[in-house]
Amino acid sequence: MNPSQWKWRYSKLAGILVAGLVLVSAAIAAWDYQQRARPPQIDFSESRHDFGNVAEGIKVSHVFRILNKGGQALLIKEAKSTCDCTTANLKLNSVPGGGSVNLEVIMDTTMKQGRINKELLVISNDPAHPQSKIFVAANVDPHAGMSSGSRGKIFVGKCATCHVQQGIGKTGEDLYIADCAMCHGFRADGGEAPSLVRFNYDHKLVAAYIREVIAHGSKSHLSMPGFLKQVGGPLTNDQIDSLVAYLHWRTNMNR
Ligand code: HEC
Ligand code: HEC
Repeated sequence: MNPSQWKWRYSKLAGILVAGLVLVSAAIAAWDYQQRARPPQIDFSESRHDFGNVAEGIKVSHVFRILNKGGQALLIKEAKSTCDCTTANLKLNSVPGGGSVNLEVIMDTTMKQGRINKELLVISNDPAHPQSKIFVAANVDPHAGMSSGSRGKIFVGKCATCHVQQGIGKTGEDLYIADCAMCHGFRADGGEAPSLVRFNYDHKLVAAYIREVIAHGSKSHLSMPGFLKQVGGPLTNDQIDSLVAYLHWRTNMNR
């Protein structure tokens, strides 16, 4: 072969290579174009979050990630809840194809009690899912985060709504059910706190001891504060007498 033949062969080879490259890059460009032309597609890092046990009167927050699995920009028009107690904060409302953005959901437990479930509606330009829902839940526990120091304070603040208010103006069994049953049981035979029907109330000293603990509280246990008005409690002397009489009667009934 002479040099000009070599040259001819090489240029032919180079031509094939260039044509190949052009084809491949055209294919990539077409694929890329197709990817980017795909409509926006909304997705979430998770669809629900449970805050577990939380105290009443606080704010808890959780960050969901909104993903755009499509090509075109995802526009989030609105993220809203049906309740004032749950709000959503979005830094950016436009997410490029393949990108993501944080959505912070804040739940306020003020005046809530027990299990709460809330949903958030996310409105976007995803043609397949113009409205998507995410969910948050919590158990609002009045005792969550209660320290041993706060145990004696059942008569003040929010604690009073359950531990004092229902007993106002009541005596005897009604008062017992309102103020004592939650700890000592509805039949006074024990619960969170010891049974009160295991004593011999006929015995004057025993009845006096019971009255003393109700009025001035337990010396050893903060959960049993003194219920007498004079020491910061909600009850009068007459109300406390009515409780001792009720416990005496209940003990005989339970026998
Ligand atoms: C929503 C009503 C409610 C509120 C508000 C509430 N409690 Fe209670 N509490 C109860 C009930 C019912 C029980 C009986 C046991 C139970 O269900 O946990 C109880 C039991 C207790 C006990 C005895 C059981 C234990 O876990 O040691 C203590 C102490 C107590 N509460 C303190 C408080 C204090 C302090 C507050 C305010 C920070 C408070 N409670 C607020 C309803 C309430
Ligand atoms: C927040 C929970 C709680 C409430 C409400 C509560 N108690 Fe108690 N009580 C206790 C605990 C805990 C003890 C045990 C104290 C100890 O071990 O020293 C106790 C002890 C007592 C005792 C002494 C029992 C013993 O074994 O020596 C009496 C009597 C008593 N409570 C009566 C009452 C009455 C009546 C009421 C309603 C006015 C009431 N308690 C409300 C938690 C409570």
